[in-house]
Amino acid sequence: MDGGRKRVAIVGFGFMGHMHYGAWKKARGAKVVAVCDSNLAQITAKVGGNLSGADNSGLAKDVKVYADFDEMLAKEPLDVVDVTLPTLLHPPMTLRALAKGVNVLCEKPMAIDARTAATMVAAAKKSKAKLMIAQCVRYWPEYVVLKDMITSGRYGRVIAADFTRFAPAPGWQNGGKSWFLDEKKSGGVALDMHLHDVDEIHHLFGMPKAVTASAHRHADGWTDFIATTYDYPGMVVTSSSSWAMTASFVWESGFRVVFEKAVAVLNTHNDKPFVVYPEKGKPFTPKTPKANGYETEIKAFLAYLDGDESVAVTPESACESVRIVDAEKKSAKLGKAVAL
Ligand SMILES: NC(=O)c1ccc[n+]([C@@H]2O[C@H](COP(=O)([O-])OP(=O)(O)OC[C@H]3O[C@@H](n4cnc5c(N)ncnc54)[C@H](O)[C@@H]3O)[C@@H](O)[C@H]2O)c1
Repeated sequence: MDGGRKRVAIVGFGFMGHMHYGAWKKARGAKVVAVCDSNLAQITAKVGGNLSGADNSGLAKDVKVYADFDEMLAKEPLDVVDVTLPTLLHPPMTLRALAKGVNVLCEKPMAIDARTAATMVAAAKKSKAKLMIAQCVRYWPEYVVLKDMITSGRYGRVIAADFTRFAPAPGWQNGGKSWFLDEKKSGGVALDMHLHDVDEIHHLFGMPKAVTASAHRHADGWTDFIATTYDYPGMVVTSSSSWAMTASFVWESGFRVVFEKAVAVLNTHNDKPFVVYPEKGKPFTPKTPKANGYETEIKAFLAYLDGDESVAVTPESACESVRIVDAEKKSAKLGKAVAL
């Protein structure tokens, strides 16, 4: 602890490392004391990604900088390691921190597949430290309101729900040859981007009985579009994600949830992105929490460390979301439904 605040280190100071740094600065009860990136140029780089909001203001002077994770782990007395590394590195770095008794907040996707993610679940069970996976959409203001609309039953039961996430292929790094486009490293659009909606569907409705997916492949071999139907009794639940959008296409994400007595729509392309259309009365935009999803996620993680599991994305839950994506990939390959 540092003056009563948890000592945090970020490993992987690219786009999400910078994004989390900005969010940690707003967290009470925690302080980023060290940052590690194997490419030290990233520490002072101005980074970008498929979203805006990364903190490019520079590290505070008292933050220690490391190029080697093990050296940082050995030298720094830490309470938390925040893993914002490329996906393949999530399991090994998480396991090393947990083995040392350091709590871990690890970016999504938890791991490249559910079998690998299960090793992180087992490591967290063995450790005295805690692991949470940063499935940020669960904390995103409009999705928090949607969850409340569903659990309160205010508008009756859900008849149908559709979740979407469309963007151009990740080409902002390395002259267009980003590691994201190597499916062995990122899991492709299904695991990297579509997982956000899969995890939200899992969070809202529990595990589906089966999935039926179809996918399109880019000429270079990687999947650039996936669309899936999730088997839940009494409702139609669908989701699609794309990295096939043209370069000039602006990121679009959202949902359309049809209740018995209202329809809730979020579409980032609309002038009014979030609107509820009730059976009676005029359409309206619900009040949403002010903090963004990353800030709320970090707050939830700190509450989890203090014993409140109800607000956390547990390793078990995140692993199950990856298992749904694995089934979707299998379904798209086989051309038939895959049971879960
Ligand atoms: N939650 C979200 O909204 C969201 C958005 C984008 C990305 N992500 C996820 O965050 C993770 C990171 O994505 P990104 O866009 O920040 O990638 P990035 O390529 O911008 O950043 C990764 C950083 O890790 C560093 N790195 C690589 N190997 C290292 C090592 N061995 N030791 C230390 N540093 C090392 C790289 O130099 C780079 O700076 C991915 O898993 C991605 O799927 C999540």
